[in-house]
Amino acid sequence: MSSAASFATKVAVVTGASSGIGREVAIQLASQGTNLVLVGRDSQRLSAVAQQCAENAGKLVVVVSDLSLEDECARAIAEAVREFGGVDALFCVAGQAMKGRFADADNAQACVRVMRVNYDSTVFLCHHALPHLTKRKGRIVVVGGLVGHAGVPGYSAYAAAKHAVVGFCRTLRRELMPTGVSVTLVSPDTVKTAVRDNMLNASGMPSPESYGSESAMSASECARHVLAAALARTPELVLGRVRLLQTLQAILPGALDRLLTKPTGSSGPTQPTAATR
Ligand SMILES: NC(=O)c1ccc[n+]([C@@H]2O[C@H](COP(=O)([O-])OP(=O)(O)OC[C@H]3O[C@@H](n4cnc5c(N)ncnc54)[C@H](OP(=O)(O)O)[C@@H]3O)[C@@H](O)[C@H]2O)c1
Repeated sequence: MSSAASFATKVAVVTGASSGIGREVAIQLASQGTNLVLVGRDSQRLSAVAQQCAENAGKLVVVVSDLSLEDECARAIAEAVREFGGVDALFCVAGQAMKGRFADADNAQACVRVMRVNYDSTVFLCHHALPHLTKRKGRIVVVGGLVGHAGVPGYSAYAAAKHAVVGFCRTLRRELMPTGVSVTLVSPDTVKTAVRDNMLNASGMPSPESYGSESAMSASECARHVLAAALARTPELVLGRVRLLQTLQAILPGALDRLLTKPTGSSGPTQPTAATR
């Protein structure tokens, strides 16, 4: 890719850079010579990613932050500005999945808490980065997910957070059109990452899951889609079964209800079959 058609020499803040999709976005940006700000909570894993990026990236900074807190989001953006003088692209990738029926939650607080990293952090980061992005006609890129486009049984809190992300991104994109700052929302289907190792149950307790034989996109392929959409300032990119879900939700919601609540076994509660993210 030529530097004219890449993020070479640009400044990109990447959240979720310690793992999965965010890690791959960071590595691929590094290969384009991007100046990187890598954000996450796990300093060891961030350092390992930084090492991998360092050979190619322009310059690189690691910011260890818990993005569920506004101050920490502000600090990540401030570090980018202090180190590089501005921000060209903000990649909001950090997220946390939660799976479990709402009726099984022993407290509702956990269901609300899951909004923080999935939704609140996007709002905080955009708020603090916007003045800098505006100066450079920059890019906001947010990773949503399949559950942001339909209410998939078993994912009420996670789906609510991702729906909020969709509404925020669509509105922000239209508001920012006159400024030249683009907003790209990427909604992947299932991607093979640590997201299921980090899964919480409806009560907010760790509840890791395996992928089994399910087909899943690789994190590096997903990152390629994210970067292509970001570069082209694509408003929305949906991957895998998301388009089908969106269509059914819009024109055949009753059929989608039946599809998503179809029993998979002879006993026990219905589990989601057509969609898991
Ligand atoms: N994998 C899928 O099937 C799939 C499908 C659709 C959408 N998505 C979305 O894709 C995004 C990336 O997920 P992934 O699949 O790459 O999962 P992952 O491998 O578990 O990565 C999640 C990332 O989010 C960061 N993170 C979580 N909580 C954080 C917090 N409070 N503060 C700062 N960073 C935090 C983690 O960093 P630390 O642990 O270092 O904090 C990690 O880097 C998420 O938004 C997820 O919802 C994933």
